[in-house]
Amino acid sequence: MPDTILPQIDSAPPGTRAAAFWDGLAERFEARDARIAVMGLGYVGLPLALALAEAGFATTGFDTDAQKLSRLATGESTLRQVKREKVQQAVRSGRLAVTGHWSGLAEADAILICVPTPLGRHREPDLSAVEAAARRIAAHLRPGQLIVLESTTWPGTTQEVVRPILESSGLACGRDFALAYSPEREDPGNCHYDTASIPRVVGGVDAHSQRLALALYGAVMQRVVPVSSPRTAEAVKLTENIFRAVNIALVNELKQVYASMGIDVWEVIEAASSKPFGYMPFWPGPGLGGHCIPVDPFYLAWKAKAQGVPTRFVELAGEINTAMPHYVLEGLVRGLDDSQGRGLRNSRILVLGVGYKPNLEDVRESPALRLMELVEQRGGVAAYHDPLVPALPAELPEHPSLAGRRSMQLSDAALEACHGVLIATDHDAVDYARIARLAPLVVDTRNACARRGVTGQYIVKA
Ligand SMILES: NC(=O)c1ccc[n+]([C@@H]2O[C@H](COP(=O)([O-])OP(=O)(O)OC[C@H]3O[C@@H](n4cnc5c(N)ncnc54)[C@H](O)[C@@H]3O)[C@@H](O)[C@H]2O)c1
Repeated sequence: MPDTILPQIDSAPPGTRAAAFWDGLAERFEARDARIAVMGLGYVGLPLALALAEAGFATTGFDTDAQKLSRLATGESTLRQVKREKVQQAVRSGRLAVTGHWSGLAEADAILICVPTPLGRHREPDLSAVEAAARRIAAHLRPGQLIVLESTTWPGTTQEVVRPILESSGLACGRDFALAYSPEREDPGNCHYDTASIPRVVGGVDAHSQRLALALYGAVMQRVVPVSSPRTAEAVKLTENIFRAVNIALVNELKQVYASMGIDVWEVIEAASSKPFGYMPFWPGPGLGGHCIPVDPFYLAWKAKAQGVPTRFVELAGEINTAMPHYVLEGLVRGLDDSQGRGLRNSRILVLGVGYKPNLEDVRESPALRLMELVEQRGGVAAYHDPLVPALPAELPEHPSLAGRRSMQLSDAALEACHGVLIATDHDAVDYARIARLAPLVVDTRNACARRGVTGQYIVKA
């Protein structure tokens, strides 16, 4: 960056050299003539880096995972839903580079933070990756950069956590660097929407930050939605995910209520969806999974607690969704009794689908793992089959007894030898008719069989 355009903003009113600098940078974003850094190349960061590269930006991806970096550097995709050719094209064209050398952050005009925001041991927000990323940026921060936090987090994080770390560099937010929050809304496995077609909500800490962030995202995304502050943008993301968590809890409760009345909740929801206004379908299941829906509501609850404000909906939804594996287990126990006159002890149960949602290999927070654990705690023998998850991660802190287990072959003999198949996730690449024909019992938490017209005497919905 030529030193003549270094912002000297503290004493410069709008229209002077400082404002001209930020305007110039915004124009470079609009012209896609800038270098963008993406920190964290996971489910969110990799598609984003590819979208930036495809839009024409010189893009550099940073990650702490050396193995991931070396695979990406050779053009290999690290995500099943991201095509290898896309990565190859971006890397070969020179538009996407990946590195673990943090000094390269200084070369970027904008740095987008897409690192994980999980929960700690006591279900409290764990911002350690965000803080570590911000510290790395602070070590290489230079005047004239835009920093955007994209990780999902509690309202206030950008201003109260990220900003002070960045300012520990000696540079001032608003004067030397710009700062914004823009939530990721990536939906892995969704073939209707991708990074560029999902509208982007943007909240900058000041007018320059907002202008820059809108210019950058506007050059990649089809639509940008400005909001008044990072805090508001942070709340937008949590609202979207809490909306899902609460509505899923509602249908999970209705599933139990209607089952007691002999009513099929899936049929009810299907018919209710015919209403062209005022209703939106949510589907029941064995509980919540993934990095977002089971986790994000706790971020708001934690912050609200600090403010002394209750979050009763959030907590109730959490309670109902967390209890769902127990409800499913009771359905399994009843099914074993009805179909074979046996209890769960020493019964061989094959859990089908351990990814947290159909056609995805992500097992984070997957209720299938909780179900396997519950089966074993009650004296049963649990195995799993998942065409997308050949083995469970070697480290599973929440489910240590399941770490490293391997997917079982779905042979005829295996299906006949088990006492029950428990459908936790309904991947498309599974022949449900064959399972219903061979297994002595199928417990279906996703309505997978009925939706495919598969019937059988011992298909139990739970
Ligand atoms: N997965 C989703 O569907 C989704 C959707 C919307 C928003 N989000 C949010 O986006 C954020 C990222 O989620 P994800 O699913 O992509 O996570 P992920 O675990 O798939 O990827 C995170 C990446 O960040 C890297 N990383 C960790 N610490 C780092 C650091 N200090 N510096 C650089 N890289 C680091 C990891 O090695 C990993 O490659 C989270 O806040 C999540 O809540 C996720």
